[in-house]
Amino acid sequence: MARYEIHGGTPLNGTVTISGAKNAAVAILPAALLVRGTCRIENVPDISDVRILLDILEGMGAKVSRPEPGVVEIDSSGEIDTQPEDTLVKKMRASYYLMGALLGRYGKAHVALPGGCNFASRPIDQHIKGFEMLGADVDYTSNYVEMKPGEFGLQGSRINLDVVSVGATINIMIAAALIPGQTIIDNAAKEPHIVDLANFLNTMGARISGAGTDTVKIRGVESLHGGTYAIIPDQIEAGTYMAAVAATGGNVLVQNVIPKHMECITGKLQEMGVRIIPYDDAIRVQSTGKLRHTTVKTRPYPGFPTDMQAQICVCMSRASGYSRLTESVYETRFFGYCTELQSMGANIQINNKTATVIGVDKLYGANVAAHDLRAGAALVIAGLVAEGTTNVENIHFVERGYENLIGKLTALGAEIRRLED
Ligand code: EPZ
Repeated sequence: MARYEIHGGTPLNGTVTISGAKNAAVAILPAALLVRGTCRIENVPDISDVRILLDILEGMGAKVSRPEPGVVEIDSSGEIDTQPEDTLVKKMRASYYLMGALLGRYGKAHVALPGGCNFASRPIDQHIKGFEMLGADVDYTSNYVEMKPGEFGLQGSRINLDVVSVGATINIMIAAALIPGQTIIDNAAKEPHIVDLANFLNTMGARISGAGTDTVKIRGVESLHGGTYAIIPDQIEAGTYMAAVAATGGNVLVQNVIPKHMECITGKLQEMGVRIIPYDDAIRVQSTGKLRHTTVKTRPYPGFPTDMQAQICVCMSRASGYSRLTESVYETRFFGYCTELQSMGANIQINNKTATVIGVDKLYGANVAAHDLRAGAALVIAGLVAEGTTNVENIHFVERGYENLIGKLTALGAEIRRLED
């Protein structure tokens, strides 16, 4: 098994370049199945979730090439198998976007239920509701989702999501792009990667408006044509490095970001006493020595992202006084990392959806294990802060979502290496 060995105590200094957004890439790549032609997608992060998705698309019959680093070309104009390979599908959560793409383009799908980080119960009832509202007959057994057109065929519809769901918003957008008529998604999620997907589809000839608001309108078109599109920078990767700089006490220019997407994270770090200077496509993060306690409540975008819960918790564990961290999206997310942080000396008390974090003078190196992607990232930050050596196991979770983590961190002065046991 691979692990990271980290010798903590060195402040991060220098420049880090943020890669393309994982959660945009894992939506846009399956959406390329809708296109009769070749999509050239740029700024694609080289992470395992992307590599798995490209293997799935290739196995379905799409022509996939990687002409240069960060660029993927997908040609779905040929014969496509509407039953993607189960074992690969089960390796990641975002494989469920194949359901929307296959329904929209081919009117049928047979897709195994997704895998991915299981830090909470992650149902897909809103996805299924959307597909049914679009006229699909959905057979949703314990292992598969099987879809075909219902007796009245596929037709645009007005769909009100019972919960603000990124995945359901994306899956319905993908399915509706080629379904005749107008589809309206009410109570839609507004994350940057939803806007990015809409921009990608519109570049290929779709007619989507309102992405980034809570009402998204899609007017189905006959077909989509090929084209070129560049993915936005990863808001959560950027936030992770910003939190690492704050926790280790460094001074780093985080470049290739969209500052607007970072506002909630930036605001919280400034509350904690971190000096932040935003530029057009970069943000300078400069520690001023001590961190102040704060209060965070995770919310759907534009609120503080749940995917930054674990990382800000590490900053809180090094801040003065009592901080409070309330999770409002996934009720059990704390359990993916708090025990590990406590073994490193953090003082965290969890009461239902709220953690009280009492700042400590030091964290101490320990042998810890990642249980999901962002928990793993938080443990890396804790190892960078801790006195002594930290080993982080199960780093396959981390490598799902962070491109060249070792290279980027060592360039900032971190003492971290990847070891295979
Ligand atoms: C996406 O997951 C992200 N994953 C997650 O990031 C992120 O934490 C989450 O959005 C929230 O921002 C990808 O984009 C691949 P949701 P998703 O549907 O789509 C409930 C990471 O670290 N819900 O917005 O699965 C659900 O249980 C990952 O990059 C239903 O009840 O999240 C949750 O409480 C981890 N029924 C809430 O909605 C449904 O059908 C939000 O989930 C769907 C969701």
